[in-house]
Amino acid sequence: MSAPASAANVLTARDLTRHYGVSRGLFQPSARVQALNGVSFDLAAGKTLAVVGESGCGKSTLARALTLIEEPSSGSLQIAGQEVAGASKAQRAQLRRDVQMVFQNPYASLNPRQKIGDQLGEPLLINTRLSRGERRERVQAMMQQVGLRPEHYQRYPHMFSGGQRQRIALARAMMLQPKVLVADEPTSALDVSIQAQVLNLFMDLQEQYGTGYVFISHNLSVVRHVADEVLVMYLGRPVEMGPSEAIYARPLHPYTQALLSATPAIHPDPLKPKIKIAGELPNPLDPPAGCAFHQRCPHATERCRSELPPLRLLDTRQVACHHAETING
Ligand SMILES: Nc1ncnc2c1ncn2[C@@H]1O[C@H](COP(=O)(O)OP(=O)(O)O)[C@@H](O)[C@H]1O
Ligand SMILES: [Mg+2]
Repeated sequence: MSAPASAANVLTARDLTRHYGVSRGLFQPSARVQALNGVSFDLAAGKTLAVVGESGCGKSTLARALTLIEEPSSGSLQIAGQEVAGASKAQRAQLRRDVQMVFQNPYASLNPRQKIGDQLGEPLLINTRLSRGERRERVQAMMQQVGLRPEHYQRYPHMFSGGQRQRIALARAMMLQPKVLVADEPTSALDVSIQAQVLNLFMDLQEQYGTGYVFISHNLSVVRHVADEVLVMYLGRPVEMGPSEAIYARPLHPYTQALLSATPAIHPDPLKPKIKIAGELPNPLDPPAGCAFHQRCPHATERCRSELPPLRLLDTRQVACHHAETING
């Protein structure tokens, strides 16, 4: 994790944090939410980092920091080797083009009054000197790539299904061939039958353009077939991170184990008992001392209640659990 950033990485995050001041009402001191705390990773071109965890664990906060929508409170972020903090205005504009985002609800990110063809052409209009005809050609090529028909060019967002709208959002994000695409729950609002198609489209485009993906989902099974690396977050902190095969084959953190166990499997193993995650996510305004997961963890000891477990290397991945060896021994 503290290894030097490699030049081939399209994204390098070191110890990213983000906190929010939250008003508790008149005459009350305001509180702080640590929405993101100590997130570090490297992402290479053409690879996918999946970020998973329950709602409220900081995934969207991370997405906003990576796409320069919000500044991190501390830590370092490099996009294709360029440090974001201290970048000039012109450099920032370039970095914004290099990192694109796809949201959960594509309808909200599309202009209801503009034809799809024009919306897809807009990034080219703003950022390139292509002629009108050239832009149209590029848009039509991209529309074909994402499975839209030529006549869709003239249509408005409301005339499409949810799956088609997400194809349009993906097409627009890819128009300028960004180095990084951050997708925040991009299939969570879609019918299950459509999800796999849209996931396949993400993978096809990645193969073609070599884009690095940060793929966010609360559902571990959704990212199973797209992830090269998995980052599991709990209450703003990374608790386990490593190669996808290793984590799916043998999760080491009790939280990852519980998340995986709660995910419906295609071939459920009747011998494997289901682990239930007891209780609720703790109040982020009043996080528990020690390991944030201890109140819900079947293995928690006195040490977990008082001492924060650091991320440490164990069996090809990093895990933040005092008892990772004993419980997995
Ligand atoms: N703008 C904000 N102001 C205050 N708190 C916020 C803000 N955005 C997010 N949070 C808090 O930060 C935590 C993480 O939220 P979020 O990143 O949206 O999680 P996720 O995407 O995993 O559901 C939550 O406790 C949330 O309430
Ligand atoms: Mg979110």
